[in-house]
Amino acid sequence: MYGQAELKELVDKAIINLTFSSEAEKLIFPVKYILSIGGKRLRPVITLMSCNLFRDKIDDAILPATGIEVFHNFTLVHDDIMDQASVRRNLPTVHAKWNINQAILSGDVMAFIANDCFLQTPPAALLKVFRAFNKAAVEVCIGQQLDMDFEKVSFVSKDEYLRMIELKTAVLIAASAMIGAIIGEADDKDAALLYEFGINLGLAFQIQDDLLDVYGDVNIFGKISGGDIVTNKKTFLLIKALELATGNTLMKLQEQVQVKEFNPAEKIKTVMDIFNQLNIRSITENLANDYITKSLKLLEKVNADKDRKNELFQMAASLIDRKK
Ligand code: IPE
Ligand code: IPE
Ligand code: MG
Ligand code: MG
Ligand code: MG
Repeated sequence: MYGQAELKELVDKAIINLTFSSEAEKLIFPVKYILSIGGKRLRPVITLMSCNLFRDKIDDAILPATGIEVFHNFTLVHDDIMDQASVRRNLPTVHAKWNINQAILSGDVMAFIANDCFLQTPPAALLKVFRAFNKAAVEVCIGQQLDMDFEKVSFVSKDEYLRMIELKTAVLIAASAMIGAIIGEADDKDAALLYEFGINLGLAFQIQDDLLDVYGDVNIFGKISGGDIVTNKKTFLLIKALELATGNTLMKLQEQVQVKEFNPAEKIKTVMDIFNQLNIRSITENLANDYITKSLKLLEKVNADKDRKNELFQMAASLIDRKK
């Protein structure tokens, strides 16, 4: 049975071993850059742990797991263009370091490199795995579109928000868990349970990401604080604050959401003060914890060895107080 650190090392190694065409080096510099500057490798580790629930030998899952991580990094490169984010993993984002066109094209090629990794799935599992991955990939794009659409409207309901983050974030984590199970030859019931486990974990993960965007320690989180406030993202924090605020506070918050010209630091401070006043931080933490608890309950139902499940259980539970 493998532990989390060991699995992360296997993924890091597989990433280092990826080979790229040298015909247009400029295309590949940003790919190597984004893949080499860290990242928690959460999704591929989930794939490998999920596979390891059902079999000892996880070699067959390493390249598909790597494909998920390459795809995830591609989404980050394009997401940073869309979100106008200049820092990720404590370093300049790809479009900030190079330029937007470079980030588009190097992002594109990563999507196809991810496909190549998936094509190395053993034939018996290939079709199922590729379908699961492709479905998730399309859904991530839909989620990202909704995320951008929501920037432009003044009201988004909690259900609309939850569906948006399910698509942009949770489905990939869910597919990561299910793909590991498929390669491990789990039965359909367990594969579906692991998918649901991933959905709930993924919802918690994005809610925490929203929280860390406001309250995280910049040096640990590695992204600039308050970016979501500046870009009018409809995060759970904002949606809850709009629901709870009354009178002057509500007017002030609505004004901040609608204002066209502003000083970013001042806007962040005003909105944060309102969040603090309304206790938004702990309400948000509670919601994330609820989803993590749900995910752990689903994992309990999976028909696999208790000790093996415990490894995935510990990893998921440790996300409760993640700082990055
Ligand atoms: C960031 O994902 C994007 C979200 C879905 C919130 P991660 O927090 O997994 O980013 P890295 O790969 O560890 O940098
Ligand atoms: C991430 O959402 C979703 C995807 C990358 C698909 P965010 O925009 O919140 O992610 P970060 O905070 O920039 O990592
Ligand atoms: Mg985004
Ligand atoms: Mg972003
Ligand atoms: Mg974010």
